[in-house]
Amino acid sequence: MRISTRREFLIASALSMGAFVVSTGLGGCGSDGSDSGVKVAFNHGVASGDPLHDRVILWTRVTPNSATDSLEVRFEVATDDTFKNLVRPAETATISAAHDYTLKVDFQNLQAGSTYFYRFTCNGVTSPVGRTKTLPQGALSQAKFAVFSCSNYPNGHFNAYSEAAKIADLDATIHTGDYIYEYGMFEKDGVTPAYATAHAAEYGRVLPSDNNTELLTLEDYRKRYALYHTDAGLQAIHAACPMIVVWDDHEIANDAYKTGAQNHDESEGSFSERKANALQAYFEWLPIRPYQEGNYETIYRSFTYGDLLSLHMLDTRIIGRDQQLSYADFPELM
Ligand SMILES: [Fe+2]
Repeated sequence: MRISTRREFLIASALSMGAFVVSTGLGGCGSDGSDSGVKVAFNHGVASGDPLHDRVILWTRVTPNSATDSLEVRFEVATDDTFKNLVRPAETATISAAHDYTLKVDFQNLQAGSTYFYRFTCNGVTSPVGRTKTLPQGALSQAKFAVFSCSNYPNGHFNAYSEAAKIADLDATIHTGDYIYEYGMFEKDGVTPAYATAHAAEYGRVLPSDNNTELLTLEDYRKRYALYHTDAGLQAIHAACPMIVVWDDHEIANDAYKTGAQNHDESEGSFSERKANALQAYFEWLPIRPYQEGNYETIYRSFTYGDLLSLHMLDTRIIGRDQQLSYADFPELM
């Protein structure tokens, strides 16, 4: 498909990616968000991310209590948390099982350096309220971020998320990777605790029985993101301010590089298929703006905070790394 303008690209993205919707306020979405009768819940919170001067990604996930092909979700953005001052009338989007009932809206035509509140409604159920902020322009004396990495559910609680969520004036949070870990509860022998799982039971953080083996399939990765998104601290930090994410290795498999990973062998099937599964789930479950239609591999991008700083987010794994040298290949160094 030839795409000649940014607007055409954005519309093409919205059409092809299903759960990704571009909201410009320039036209209606063609639906009133009517109730389909399926009972739903917002069990995984709300999130925002990738703020620019005039737009931000808004995210949520709907849990239907019975099988359904699609659902209509209404979304609203306001300058106050009671939603008296809507930026524009509510709009609707369609979500489906094809993208695990996740929704991402690239909400546009916002003001720079401004705080907004957002929420979603589906079949009469309204989500928690999220707060977000666009990038400032012009003279800027300070910006405040909370930075995270290596968030391993079975290895403890996400207190760092909970505490950061209490900071009222964060511009954004930055997650530098390992937002999830791909390990199961046990090594392949079924007895030896897998990496950092030895104390999971005492923490009350045992992986659920339908997702306690190493992640390989799309369903595996989706379920792991769903589990992490049940954590109250994780939901609190996402609701508090926008998050800017990049992956490290564990979003795919330990020590991942372009064509493989330390924690992948032939008995686990094709690495390229595993990688595609992992990256699709990543784009479904995190508030990151897709780079290009159908492209789940490109995540390097930049954010400019007024005249103060430029934040350059890099990929160091999937398109940025050849297979690592192994010490075992150099016995004289051992
Ligand atoms: Fe890590």
